[in-house]
Amino acid sequence: MEYNFPRFMGKSIRSEGEFHHNILKLNTIDSTNSFAKAHFDELIDRTAVVADYQTAGRGRAGRSWCSLEGNLFLTLILKPNIPFSQESAHATMTHYMGVSLCLLLEKMGLRPGLKWPNDILVDGKKIAGILAEFVPVASKSSRSRMGIVIGIGVNLNMKDSDLEAIDQPAVSLAQLLPPKRRLDRDHFLTAYLDTFFEEYDLFLRNGFTQIARTYDSFLLYKGEKIRLQTEQNTRRGILKGISPGGALLLEEENGQQNEYYAGDVWLE
Ligand code: BTN
Repeated sequence: MEYNFPRFMGKSIRSEGEFHHNILKLNTIDSTNSFAKAHFDELIDRTAVVADYQTAGRGRAGRSWCSLEGNLFLTLILKPNIPFSQESAHATMTHYMGVSLCLLLEKMGLRPGLKWPNDILVDGKKIAGILAEFVPVASKSSRSRMGIVIGIGVNLNMKDSDLEAIDQPAVSLAQLLPPKRRLDRDHFLTAYLDTFFEEYDLFLRNGFTQIARTYDSFLLYKGEKIRLQTEQNTRRGILKGISPGGALLLEEENGQQNEYYAGDVWLE
């Protein structure tokens, strides 16, 4: 899709937050992730792109993301000034984003959980999902860097009928908080960005070890029998935990413990 940039500028870029970041608010867009990728070179590090409504919200594995007004559709443009490797923070940025949301939901009095690698559930129902895409950072120097466009969709104010139309059990924050409480998107956005950027620099420096214990404390289905759907096949076994690199540790039916870096987990 071709974007006419000024038309989509919404309320323009503003710098906000105790932990410095920029916010670009859009009205309607196909997908904040697609927009961020299309404008990656123009948007500076730590820009948050937010839309009121997405016409073609994208989920993992080519799925779509229900994107009705009243909910949070946020994409962060991140250009970490560190080398990219399998161990660098890039590899587990989705884990970091998920942990940040869990910490915020916990502060709001909820008991969130992480379905590996980065679905956020409350009471067994999905409240948020994360989609990360890598984009090389254009650079004049010989040291190339890898950037990340990372999007999160959070159900804030969904009608029961809209939730029921989703292909898996889903919930929105308004259903979980005291009756008649409608969530203010911008208020939630500010709280989320503050939480995200609070430990971001430490996370860049230390990688997954920075959040390993916290991630583990939110991890769902530990010790339970699960099904792991990878692109190649289906595996079954006991979910043993998370490796130091953020991989899923699965004790398979033959007794072997294997590490997986991608896939969808379902309780058996
Ligand atoms: C998933 O669970 O499948 C991931 C869903 C990610 C949805 C968010 S909404 C903001 C950003 N823009 C998109 O098109 N997708 C992500």
